[in-house]
Amino acid sequence: MYNSKIIGLGKYVPENVVTNDDLSKMMDTNDEWIQERTGIKERRWIEKGSEDTSATMGAKAARIAIERAGLTKDEIDFIVFATLSPDYYFPGCGVQIQDMLDMPTVGALDIRNQCSGFVYAVSVADQFIKTGMYKNVLVIGSEYHSGGLDKTTRGRGVSVIFGDGAGAAVMSRTEDNSKGVLSSHLHSEGKYAEELTVLGPNIKKWVPEILEANDPEDTSYYPYMNGQFVFKHAVVRFSEAIIEGLQANNLQKEDIDMLIPHQANLRISQFVQRKFGLRDDQVFNNIQKYGNTTAASVIIALTEAWEEGKIKDGDTVVLAAFGSGFTWGSVIMKW
Ligand code: ACO
Repeated sequence: MYNSKIIGLGKYVPENVVTNDDLSKMMDTNDEWIQERTGIKERRWIEKGSEDTSATMGAKAARIAIERAGLTKDEIDFIVFATLSPDYYFPGCGVQIQDMLDMPTVGALDIRNQCSGFVYAVSVADQFIKTGMYKNVLVIGSEYHSGGLDKTTRGRGVSVIFGDGAGAAVMSRTEDNSKGVLSSHLHSEGKYAEELTVLGPNIKKWVPEILEANDPEDTSYYPYMNGQFVFKHAVVRFSEAIIEGLQANNLQKEDIDMLIPHQANLRISQFVQRKFGLRDDQVFNNIQKYGNTTAASVIIALTEAWEEGKIKDGDTVVLAAFGSGFTWGSVIMKW
């Protein structure tokens, strides 16, 4: 049996920086509230008129990851694309990457697992590589949130949190089983689907019905989040996922060299850091700059941590995420 290892990382975020003060001009909010509750100082939002979308941002990040992996696009055997904001309702963004990068007609798969999307995507790619089916898998997380947010005071509980951006990793076969993905642990609890959701368009509420109603009060296209409920579940599930990963590999919390938590809220990351007694240099956060980029957040953070030299050969790296579904999980890897 083979193992899978990340051999290339890349990220792309739109240039347009939106500060908390910028938001306070659109809605009744302020820098103090946002920073105190979430830790976010600014986020990137695709500018109106830009050609950026989830697929194009994903393609930009992917090109960097493939180059850093020392591969060509023709050597990629499969694409896994995690997003909750695909360019089309269908098809998914993975097939667009095949086209945008002018790749051979390799398989492409979208993962619709929101904030846990990248953790799920890594696990799926890992399985394909471990079985020997594929050698090099391109894994992307990308989100274009800003086009679908309620930017009025009505939507302030959600819209101030989300940002746009993309990250990509090339995962490749290795025969050194001491390196790469050691294990992944995935979970879901669907009874909480409507605690964090975008309701429309969906099969329960057909598009023609919505168009006929044309109701300005209809918020079903905007994300809804029961914030405190989600928060309470997040801190518990994050911790469980990390403990499960450590136990599966006979590791102790002291063995964690770098924890990359999904960037949902700085307070959630800090809670987890305190619970595990980790030092600041053992946890990487960049929500202050980018907000919550859901399926892109873990891969953007992993890429930045690596670019800043904070991940070294032989390190034990833990990815952990929790989000809409509810879904959550962890990946334990040796760098
Ligand atoms: N600016 C100013 N005031 C605001 C804002 C804002 N942007 N948003 C809400 N408020 C007000 C509310 O109206 C409320 O006022 P009231 O007390 O007069 O009614 C008050 O602030 C408190 O609102 P809460 O929603 O209770 O604020 P809370 O402390 O819970 O923080 C937050 C909200 C930041 C969303 C937090 O609950 C959170 O981070 N939840 C978890 C998020 C998460 O982990 N998501 C998972 C990943 S996302 C995904 O999967 C798609």
